Amino acid sequence: MRKKLIAGNWKMNLGPADSAKLAQDILNAASGNDKADIVIAPTYTSLDRVSGIIHGSNVKLSAQDMHWEEQGAFTGKISWDMLKELNVEYAILGHSEQRTFFHETNQTVNMKTKKALEKSLIPIVCVGETLEERESGKTNAVCEDHVRGAFQGISKEDAVKCIIAYEPVWAIGTGKNATPEQAQDVHAFIRNLLKEMYDEGAASTIRILYGGSMKPDNAAGLLSKPDIDGGLIGGASLKADSFLGIINAAP
Ligand code: 13P
Repeated sequence: MRKKLIAGNWKMNLGPADSAKLAQDILNAASGNDKADIVIAPTYTSLDRVSGIIHGSNVKLSAQDMHWEEQGAFTGKISWDMLKELNVEYAILGHSEQRTFFHETNQTVNMKTKKALEKSLIPIVCVGETLEERESGKTNAVCEDHVRGAFQGISKEDAVKCIIAYEPVWAIGTGKNATPEQAQDVHAFIRNLLKEMYDEGAASTIRILYGGSMKPDNAAGLLSKPDIDGGLIGGASLKADSFLGIINAAP
């Protein structure tokens, strides 16, 4: 039985003071909550403050990205050991906003995923189609391309440590979530693909999260589907109430 995981991606929102307050509010409300694994991903400049607040609790820390090199001349980038020093345990990789605005490709997602695994960070690998791709019937093909690209050369032993997030680009920040049935179809497709790439055991172990306008009022429907193992939440993770509402919607 896969435990649900609810992750908040704060994107480029909240400075250190506001992040600390939100982290404290989430901790106050979610401390000891066993309904789901809980992860929050503040901006880099807030990681240190937030880390100090949630350290040792059931609320875990994620970065929003990570570079594949260990150090060096990569202006603006952050490496795994800088994250580990702050007790970061997860890294969101291949987010569609990285793919759209910052030249993220399957190849760079693959390099980041391998490095994260090598250094014991848990990758949250994001995949998903644009509206145009969905309307032209390419949803499964795009997701397959993203999954195969990200997991290229990764062993089954490592693959089972990863988390996948299916985030249809047309649902992100639009208020238009995929219906539970639409999301379940794609999640089942991805799980079947993992079975083909690895085996039944790996496919039934890897958690697949849904992301895209998930809110307290639509979360229960999505989270009740058999292949939806949690959520990667943007807008609704910026308020403790709505983030907790989603956690509590987990069956
Ligand atoms: P929203 O929940 O704001 O649609 O964002 C989803 C997302 O991109 C999480 O990574």
